Amino acid sequence: MTAPRLIVPDASLHASWVESFAEWPDPQDHHGDGLLLAGDLDLRVRADFSEWVRRLIEDEVRPRPGLVTATNRWLVDASGYLGSGQLRHHLGTDYLRDRGGHIGYSVRPSARGNGYAHVILQGMLHEGRIRGLGRVMVSCLADNAASAATIRRAGGVLCDEDDQPGLLRFWISLN
Ligand SMILES: CC(C)(COP(=O)(O)OP(=O)(O)OC[C@H]1O[C@@H](n2cnc3c(N)ncnc32)[C@H](O)[C@@H]1OP(=O)(O)O)[C@@H](O)C(=O)NCCC(=O)NCCS
Repeated sequence: MTAPRLIVPDASLHASWVESFAEWPDPQDHHGDGLLLAGDLDLRVRADFSEWVRRLIEDEVRPRPGLVTATNRWLVDASGYLGSGQLRHHLGTDYLRDRGGHIGYSVRPSARGNGYAHVILQGMLHEGRIRGLGRVMVSCLADNAASAATIRRAGGVLCDEDDQPGLLRFWISLN
Protein backbone atom coordinates (compact mmCIF):
# COMPACT_ATOMS: atom_id res chain seq x y z
CA MET A 1 0.00 0.00 0.00
CA THR A 2 1.62 3.26 -1.09
CA ALA A 3 1.24 6.27 1.18
CA PRO A 4 -0.88 9.08 -0.27
CA ARG A 5 1.21 11.74 -1.96
CA LEU A 6 0.60 15.06 -3.67
CA ILE A 7 1.30 15.19 -7.38
CA VAL A 8 0.98 17.63 -10.25
CA PRO A 9 -2.40 16.89 -11.94
CA ASP A 10 -2.02 13.99 -14.34
CA ALA A 11 -4.37 13.18 -17.25
CA SER A 12 -3.72 9.45 -16.87
CA LEU A 13 -5.95 9.54 -13.75
CA HIS A 14 -9.01 10.27 -15.89
CA ALA A 15 -11.00 7.14 -14.97
CA SER A 16 -10.32 7.50 -11.26
CA TRP A 17 -11.18 11.22 -11.27
CA VAL A 18 -14.48 10.61 -13.11
CA GLU A 19 -15.35 7.88 -10.61
CA SER A 20 -14.63 10.26 -7.73
CA PHE A 21 -16.69 13.05 -9.32
CA ALA A 22 -19.75 10.79 -9.35
CA GLU A 23 -19.48 10.48 -5.56
CA TRP A 24 -20.08 14.18 -4.93
CA PRO A 25 -23.69 14.96 -4.05
CA ASP A 26 -23.18 18.73 -4.14
CA PRO A 27 -21.13 20.49 -6.83
CA GLN A 28 -20.69 23.41 -4.40
CA ASP A 29 -18.43 21.19 -2.31
CA HIS A 30 -15.72 21.17 -4.93
CA HIS A 31 -13.27 23.45 -3.16
CA GLY A 32 -9.77 23.82 -4.48
CA ASP A 33 -10.03 21.54 -7.47
CA GLY A 34 -9.80 24.17 -10.22
CA LEU A 35 -13.12 23.21 -11.84
CA LEU A 36 -13.54 26.87 -12.76
CA LEU A 37 -10.82 26.38 -15.36
CA ALA A 38 -12.82 23.66 -17.10
CA GLY A 39 -15.34 26.14 -18.50
CA ASP A 40 -17.47 24.31 -21.07
CA LEU A 41 -15.26 21.22 -21.24
CA ASP A 42 -16.95 17.86 -20.68
CA LEU A 43 -14.56 16.23 -18.22
CA ARG A 44 -16.03 12.77 -18.87
CA VAL A 45 -14.43 12.99 -22.31
CA ARG A 46 -10.76 12.06 -22.17
CA ALA A 47 -9.57 14.79 -24.57
CA ASP A 48 -11.44 17.48 -22.63
CA PHE A 49 -10.06 16.14 -19.36
CA SER A 50 -6.52 16.32 -20.76
CA GLU A 51 -7.13 19.92 -21.77
CA TRP A 52 -8.37 20.75 -18.26
CA VAL A 53 -5.28 19.12 -16.73
CA ARG A 54 -3.13 21.20 -19.08
CA ARG A 55 -4.91 24.35 -17.85
CA LEU A 56 -4.43 23.32 -14.20
CA ILE A 57 -0.69 23.00 -14.76
CA GLU A 58 -0.50 26.24 -16.75
CA ASP A 59 -2.47 27.96 -13.98
CA GLU A 60 0.78 28.15 -12.03
CA VAL A 61 2.33 30.62 -14.46
CA ARG A 62 -0.40 32.13 -16.60
CA PRO A 63 -3.26 34.04 -14.95
CA ARG A 64 -6.70 33.78 -16.56
CA PRO A 65 -9.01 36.78 -16.80
CA GLY A 66 -10.32 37.66 -13.35
CA LEU A 67 -8.24 34.95 -11.62
CA VAL A 68 -4.80 34.89 -10.00
CA THR A 69 -2.16 32.25 -10.70
CA ALA A 70 -2.39 29.16 -8.53
CA THR A 71 -0.62 25.90 -7.75
CA ASN A 72 -2.87 22.85 -8.17
CA ARG A 73 -2.03 19.47 -6.67
CA TRP A 74 -3.81 16.11 -6.43
CA LEU A 75 -3.60 13.64 -3.58
CA VAL A 76 -3.25 10.10 -4.92
CA ASP A 77 -2.39 6.62 -3.76
CA ALA A 78 -2.20 3.27 -5.54
CA SER A 79 -6.00 3.23 -5.84
CA GLY A 80 -6.03 6.56 -7.72
CA TYR A 81 -7.41 10.04 -7.09
CA LEU A 82 -8.20 10.97 -3.47
CA GLY A 83 -8.54 14.74 -3.42
CA SER A 84 -7.08 18.07 -4.44
CA GLY A 85 -5.58 21.28 -3.12
CA GLN A 86 -5.10 24.72 -4.62
CA LEU A 87 -2.81 27.52 -3.46
CA ARG A 88 -3.83 30.90 -4.84
CA HIS A 89 -0.58 32.86 -5.11
CA HIS A 90 -2.01 36.12 -3.77
CA LEU A 91 -5.33 37.52 -2.64
CA GLY A 92 -5.74 39.48 -5.84
CA THR A 93 -9.52 39.55 -6.15
CA ASP A 94 -12.33 40.76 -3.90
CA TYR A 95 -13.65 37.20 -3.66
CA LEU A 96 -10.32 35.79 -2.47
CA ARG A 97 -9.81 38.64 0.03
CA ASP A 98 -13.36 38.38 1.39
CA ARG A 99 -14.08 34.65 1.29
CA GLY A 100 -11.87 32.36 -0.76
CA GLY A 101 -8.49 32.89 0.87
CA HIS A 102 -5.20 31.43 -0.35
CA ILE A 103 -5.95 27.72 -0.06
CA GLY A 104 -8.84 25.44 -0.99
CA TYR A 105 -8.98 21.67 -0.71
CA SER A 106 -11.38 18.78 -0.95
CA VAL A 107 -11.33 15.02 -0.39
CA ARG A 108 -13.52 12.62 -2.36
CA PRO A 109 -16.43 11.43 -0.20
CA SER A 110 -15.35 7.77 -0.13
CA ALA A 111 -11.89 8.73 1.20
CA ARG A 112 -12.94 11.08 4.01
CA GLY A 113 -12.13 10.55 7.68
CA ASN A 114 -8.59 9.30 7.04
CA GLY A 115 -6.66 12.49 7.74
CA TYR A 116 -6.22 13.31 4.05
CA ALA A 117 -7.40 16.91 4.41
CA HIS A 118 -4.53 17.40 6.84
CA VAL A 119 -2.06 15.90 4.34
CA ILE A 120 -3.33 18.18 1.55
CA LEU A 121 -3.28 21.33 3.67
CA GLN A 122 0.26 20.59 4.89
CA GLY A 123 1.35 20.11 1.28
CA MET A 124 -0.20 23.38 0.16
CA LEU A 125 1.38 25.23 3.11
CA HIS A 126 4.70 23.80 1.94
CA GLU A 127 4.01 25.22 -1.53
CA GLY A 128 3.30 28.59 0.10
CA ARG A 129 6.65 28.51 1.91
CA ILE A 130 8.40 27.66 -1.35
CA ARG A 131 6.81 30.74 -2.88
CA GLY A 132 7.95 32.90 0.04
CA LEU A 133 4.54 33.65 1.50
CA GLY A 134 4.77 34.73 5.14
CA ARG A 135 1.21 33.77 6.02
CA VAL A 136 -1.90 32.51 4.30
CA MET A 137 -5.60 33.02 4.80
CA VAL A 138 -7.75 29.88 4.87
CA SER A 139 -11.51 30.09 5.34
CA CYS A 140 -14.42 27.72 5.83
CA LEU A 141 -18.09 27.85 6.64
CA ALA A 142 -18.80 27.80 10.36
CA ASP A 143 -20.74 24.54 10.04
CA ASN A 144 -17.85 22.75 8.29
CA ALA A 145 -16.43 21.14 11.43
CA ALA A 146 -13.97 18.90 9.60
CA SER A 147 -12.45 21.80 7.68
CA ALA A 148 -12.30 24.05 10.76
CA ALA A 149 -10.52 21.25 12.67
CA THR A 150 -8.08 20.79 9.78
CA ILE A 151 -7.24 24.50 9.72
CA ARG A 152 -6.86 24.74 13.50
CA ARG A 153 -4.58 21.69 13.54
CA ALA A 154 -2.36 23.47 11.01
CA GLY A 155 -2.02 26.45 13.36
CA GLY A 156 -4.87 28.55 12.00
CA VAL A 157 -5.71 31.58 14.13
CA LEU A 158 -9.31 32.75 13.82
CA CYS A 159 -9.71 36.38 12.79
CA ASP A 160 -12.74 38.52 12.11
CA GLU A 161 -15.98 36.62 12.06
CA ASP A 162 -18.38 39.52 12.42
CA ASP A 163 -18.65 41.05 8.97
CA GLN A 164 -19.56 37.80 7.25
CA PRO A 165 -21.65 35.66 9.59
CA GLY A 166 -21.26 31.95 9.02
CA LEU A 167 -17.78 32.27 7.53
CA LEU A 168 -14.65 31.54 9.56
CA ARG A 169 -11.46 33.20 8.38
CA PHE A 170 -8.13 31.98 9.71
CA TRP A 171 -4.55 33.06 9.13
CA ILE A 172 -1.74 30.51 9.25
CA SER A 173 1.81 31.76 9.74
CA LEU A 174 4.38 30.09 7.49
CA ASN A 175 7.43 31.40 9.32
C1 LIG B 1 -13.47 19.16 4.76
C2 LIG B 1 -12.85 17.91 4.15
C3 LIG B 1 -11.74 18.35 3.20
C4 LIG B 1 -12.28 17.03 5.26
O1 LIG B 1 -11.61 15.94 4.66
P1 LIG B 1 -11.22 14.61 5.48
O2 LIG B 1 -10.09 13.97 4.75
O3 LIG B 1 -12.41 13.80 5.76
O4 LIG B 1 -10.69 15.24 6.84
P2 LIG B 1 -9.72 14.54 7.87
O5 LIG B 1 -9.97 13.06 7.89
O6 LIG B 1 -8.32 15.00 7.57
O7 LIG B 1 -10.24 15.15 9.23
C5 LIG B 1 -10.01 16.50 9.48
C6 LIG B 1 -10.36 16.81 10.92
O8 LIG B 1 -11.78 16.94 11.00
C7 LIG B 1 -12.26 16.10 12.04
N1 LIG B 1 -13.55 15.66 11.55
C8 LIG B 1 -13.80 14.87 10.49
N2 LIG B 1 -15.13 14.76 10.32
C9 LIG B 1 -15.70 15.52 11.28
C10 LIG B 1 -17.03 15.83 11.63
N3 LIG B 1 -18.06 15.36 10.91
N4 LIG B 1 -17.23 16.64 12.68
C11 LIG B 1 -16.22 17.14 13.38
N5 LIG B 1 -14.92 16.89 13.10
C12 LIG B 1 -14.68 16.10 12.07
C13 LIG B 1 -11.25 15.00 12.14
O9 LIG B 1 -11.27 14.40 13.42
C14 LIG B 1 -9.97 15.76 11.93
O10 LIG B 1 -9.63 16.48 13.10
P3 LIG B 1 -8.16 16.38 13.71
O11 LIG B 1 -7.23 16.74 12.59
O12 LIG B 1 -8.18 17.36 14.82
O13 LIG B 1 -8.04 14.94 14.11
C15 LIG B 1 -13.91 17.07 3.36
O14 LIG B 1 -15.01 16.84 4.19
C16 LIG B 1 -14.37 17.74 2.07
O15 LIG B 1 -13.77 17.55 1.02
N6 LIG B 1 -15.46 18.50 2.15
C17 LIG B 1 -15.98 19.21 0.98
C18 LIG B 1 -15.03 20.33 0.56
C19 LIG B 1 -14.70 21.26 1.69
O16 LIG B 1 -15.52 21.58 2.53
N7 LIG B 1 -13.43 21.72 1.68
C20 LIG B 1 -12.95 22.67 2.65
C21 LIG B 1 -13.23 24.02 2.13
S1 LIG B 1 -13.13 25.20 3.38
